[in-house]
Amino acid sequence: MKKVRLGVVGLGPRGRYVGKLYHAHPSCEVVALCDRFVTKAESMAAELGNPSIRLFADFEEMLATVPLDAVFIAAPPDIQVDMACHAMNKGVHVATEVPAAYTIEDCWKLVRTVERTGAKYLLSEQTRYWGFIRQWAEMVRSGELGPVLFAEGEYLHYAEWDYYIDARTGETFFGDPKPPAGREVEATWRNRRFLHPIYYLPHTLSPLLKIVGGRVTSVSCMGTRPASHYVSGAAARDVEVALMQTTEGTVIRAAAGFTSPSGPRRDTGYHWYQVKGASGAVEWARSKRDRPRMWLDQDADWREMDWKTDAGLAPGLSAETAHGSADGWPVDNFIRAVAEDAPLDMDVYAAVETAAPAILAAESSREGGVLKTVPNFRRRG
Ligand SMILES: NC(=O)c1ccc[n+]([C@@H]2O[C@H](COP(=O)([O-])OP(=O)(O)OC[C@H]3O[C@@H](n4cnc5c(N)ncnc54)[C@H](O)[C@@H]3O)[C@@H](O)[C@H]2O)c1
Repeated sequence: MKKVRLGVVGLGPRGRYVGKLYHAHPSCEVVALCDRFVTKAESMAAELGNPSIRLFADFEEMLATVPLDAVFIAAPPDIQVDMACHAMNKGVHVATEVPAAYTIEDCWKLVRTVERTGAKYLLSEQTRYWGFIRQWAEMVRSGELGPVLFAEGEYLHYAEWDYYIDARTGETFFGDPKPPAGREVEATWRNRRFLHPIYYLPHTLSPLLKIVGGRVTSVSCMGTRPASHYVSGAAARDVEVALMQTTEGTVIRAAAGFTSPSGPRRDTGYHWYQVKGASGAVEWARSKRDRPRMWLDQDADWREMDWKTDAGLAPGLSAETAHGSADGWPVDNFIRAVAEDAPLDMDVYAAVETAAPAILAAESSREGGVLKTVPNFRRRG
């Protein structure tokens, strides 16, 4: 089989890591690397040990210069829609990182570009491949839990974020939301977006919608004050909580936050979930010492379960990957979709069905919880 010729754009930690997984896939050849700081492309090419990889500081120049079948985009997520649409308009297939978009207009732009060009678009959300997420989805499909009434998820994650970047050198400044004195710096996408952490809801909605099915039809959201309690001087809401209703009648509650410390969960890091059906419930472990649990309506008490995050090796990849090997799955899915026309696990509709509720949740939070209706992107219009 002919190898997929891939370009990778955005060579921060995520682009470098996932780019290397593409490089390791037997049906893919990474032929071009792009970062606005070309030194990052140079160092990654050296790590891949392939001097024939073409290096670029400009994405459009890469597309105009190198024959590519596909691109993987891990640039700042709030600029990736234009890149994705530009590539698809040139007949190049696209995988992007989460979140897919930050405005409803950009959601429509992605959908319409895929529909017009016929290009393949994949959102590379990987926690939906975790072993227990697949098992819970199967339990719901088989009716074991009864109709799902309520599902909940959270992503509460604190780290020393890079709030500023020196636009000439690429040097990043971590941990301090005040710009460094005497330096000419730009705010990073994290600085721009953490005012509303609920923008990162797609990472949580992707596995939850895989379990409960359907799409979100309405959303309301509230958050803490727009000044972090923990990171002094940061214009960030420490937590935002969205309440959603789906086409299947399920109520979903999801929380996101990136500027206050949170206790880690067993194996899932900073992610946590529970699902309650009419005849049973499942719940992930609360702490590293706690265990996942299930309760079915005949049971006298909750049972501790041996569920795992382990997603198993993705086809095509011979080594374990990060996030319980989940990271390999979108890589393999995208390459097989491009090379063999395999169905996409998270196509453009599924992608915007996670982005749009997040965008409207941020809007709702700004307006004190006003209920928002989520458009149906599958209806042509
Ligand atoms: N799925 C996951 O578990 C996961 C984990 C981490 C990050 N992410 C996602 O991956 C993406 C990247 O995250 P990161 O932590 O590596 O971010 P980052 O900000 O560290 O890296 C972004 C890179 O893009 C480059 N860049 C910026 N503008 C560019 C342009 N116009 N052209 C070319 N390159 C440009 C920057 O120089 C930088 O190297 C984000 O969308 C993030 O949400 C996903």
